[in-house]
Amino acid sequence: MRSMWTYSCRDTAVDLGSATVRMHLNGRGVVAREPAVLARSRQTGRILALGASARALAGRSTDISLIHPIRQGAPAEADETEYLLRHLVRTHHGRRYTAKPRMVVCVPSGLTPVQFDAVQAAAFQAGARRLSLVPTPLAAAAGAGLSVTDGEVVIVADIGAEVTDIGIIAFGGLVSSHMAKVGGASLDRAIIAQVRREHDVALSPVAAESAKLAVGSALPKGKQRTRRILVHGRDLASGLPRPVVLTGAEVQRAIARAVDAIVDAVRVGVGRCSPEISSDLLHSGLTLTGGTARLPGLDRYIRTETGLRAEAGQNAPDAAVLGAAAFLRGDYPRVGRFPLRSERHGVTMGAWPSRGCPGTT
Ligand SMILES: Nc1ncnc2c1ncn2[C@@H]1O[C@H](COP(=O)(O)OP(=O)(O)OP(=O)(O)O)[C@@H](O)[C@H]1O
Ligand SMILES: [Mg+2]
Repeated sequence: MRSMWTYSCRDTAVDLGSATVRMHLNGRGVVAREPAVLARSRQTGRILALGASARALAGRSTDISLIHPIRQGAPAEADETEYLLRHLVRTHHGRRYTAKPRMVVCVPSGLTPVQFDAVQAAAFQAGARRLSLVPTPLAAAAGAGLSVTDGEVVIVADIGAEVTDIGIIAFGGLVSSHMAKVGGASLDRAIIAQVRREHDVALSPVAAESAKLAVGSALPKGKQRTRRILVHGRDLASGLPRPVVLTGAEVQRAIARAVDAIVDAVRVGVGRCSPEISSDLLHSGLTLTGGTARLPGLDRYIRTETGLRAEAGQNAPDAAVLGAAAFLRGDYPRVGRFPLRSERHGVTMGAWPSRGCPGTT
């Protein structure tokens, strides 16, 4: 006889991140944090590897092209996204895969109708029986442990790799939102550009990211300044490998403008709230989620720039998928009923501002 547990265990929450796809199974927690990458053979067109093992193949052979199927938080390559998701579902559901899961997927608040269709196709092809979509800032708020269902307004900025998604939340729904195409990957690109300019060395995105993670910060203060990291790139003149030492100060200077773009997005997002709510925000402040919320000094920098208290939420990088899982479990029965719920092709659109449902208007 099947226990309740086996049944509920199939409930699957997914965060299709531009950098990392996260999957949560009810009763088991976050079972997958897989780089959103596939390696394809140019010659045969076959998928050779996916996730971490695909990323390890980067630049190893001229026959291999890396595909990043999820861009700006939504599927850009529908077939590859579907492949990745199906693989994760099969791997982690094990024998229970024979029964199709209920699935909830977090999506950017500014989801377009085309992206909507792609998410839907990927989820159903991966075996979803029923699908709900939830806007990322709302899911992230719940996953960060904020109370999203009462009347108190909370504001969340989910700062990922390619998207900064700011949501103002009350009564279990998104009151308003703003999304900008900036995030951690913008910081990595800024590091690559500066190292190219000042050291004549080409860095890989992975090397740039590792420099950022080791010594990056949003503020030119503290220990970060004196810390250094050694990265390897390719000398632009000779074409040979060359090590470069980057200091915290140098990385901070490289990423400063990209950090400002993130802060600008936050400012616009916060500016969307009504005057009644605005004054509340001075007390409540805003919560940062997503991987880039961990950038040292970003919370303080946002505070100096906007005057609002900003704090990284609990489980910042996993917040969206954890919140999505909580909705699926029914921890927040009111979410999805406020302020609008509409059905289309069996898909439930959870908690968008009225008339804001992508694909339905
Ligand atoms: N400690 C850290 N300091 C600074 N940046 C970090 C840290 N940890 C992770 N990041 C950055 O966070 C980003 C990944 O965040 P996240 O996993 O939330 O993105 P994603 O959900 O895949 O992307 P998106 O939400 O934009 O589609 C990467 O750019 C990564 O370099
Ligand atoms: Mg994300």
